[in-house]
Amino acid sequence: MQISHSSTGQQRLLRPDDLKEGVELSSAAGWNQTAEDWEMLMDLTPDGCFALEADGQLVSTTTLLCYQRRLAWIGMVLTRAKYRGRGFARRLLAAALQHADSLEIETIKLDATDQGRPLYEAFGFQAEQPIERWLRPGSTESQIIFDHQPLPKHVLDCDSKAFGVDRSTLLQNLTHRSNTYSDSNGYLLVRSGRTTAYLGPCVSSDPVAGRNVITRAINEAHVSWSWDLLPANRHAVAIASELGFTRQRSLTRMARGKPLHGRDDLVYAIAGFELG
Ligand SMILES: CC(C)(COP(=O)(O)OP(=O)(O)OC[C@H]1O[C@@H](n2cnc3c(N)ncnc32)[C@H](O)[C@@H]1OP(=O)(O)O)[C@@H](O)C(=O)NCCC(=O)NCCS
Repeated sequence: MQISHSSTGQQRLLRPDDLKEGVELSSAAGWNQTAEDWEMLMDLTPDGCFALEADGQLVSTTTLLCYQRRLAWIGMVLTRAKYRGRGFARRLLAAALQHADSLEIETIKLDATDQGRPLYEAFGFQAEQPIERWLRPGSTESQIIFDHQPLPKHVLDCDSKAFGVDRSTLLQNLTHRSNTYSDSNGYLLVRSGRTTAYLGPCVSSDPVAGRNVITRAINEAHVSWSWDLLPANRHAVAIASELGFTRQRSLTRMARGKPLHGRDDLVYAIAGFELG
């Protein structure tokens, strides 16, 4: 569906045939997302995936994943290097926020790189807390075996408490391509990434149980891992250090609208910078 057109690019929604160029955009930024990650966003939120096309190619993207009316998450804010500085990201962010307003979404959040942060500040987003990418090197050859296990209700309830809103649709979707570790205290999902396996989301009501599920996962697959954590959870930082992860980079979690807080002390790993 075409939304608007201008000589500086044609704005429209992302389509399934954008998948290859979407992966090109995120890969060029050094990001870990796969075609499945892009596909999932388009499946979950077809009206919230915005694109700008110029010179016959996809040059800029922004996605808005809605968790009912209480929260939406901005992600995949990317502009092809040659097309930066022309206001493309600004236009798509404005479109995403307008869409969120039309749906009467109460709170909007995102995880900002230093490059993206001035753009979000201009739209009234305020810094909430740091969020960090940690890495653990390993073999690139071994594979994760996926078990496609659905998450039980107690796990989904525990996640809602930690995240602040119900995101069971996203989580059940992720289980289709994840290995699931759960116990009476919480759960961990692990999935493939473009360059490393991805550890998260992980929620647990007990640090020892959290450590156990994470240890089980990394002992089962000797791959390289990425893990995004909130340093506000000191236990998560301690477990990551103990298991041989090192901090790779720091981003800023930002928010706009009605204050919304989950329980960061229960969050050991987020689901993804583009998901929350
Ligand atoms: C961040 C990014 C999406 C900006 O895309 P863009 O299309 O060039 O952005 P715009 O031209 O719409 O610029 C919007 C605002 O962002 C800010 N901005 C953009 N690039 C910037 C830079 N390199 N340094 C500082 N501020 C910058 C400016 O404040 C600009 O405001 P202005 O219009 O008043 O000058 C792009 O640089 C990119 O893809 N970076 C790599 C991926 C990334 O970090 N994405 C952000 C994820 S949170």
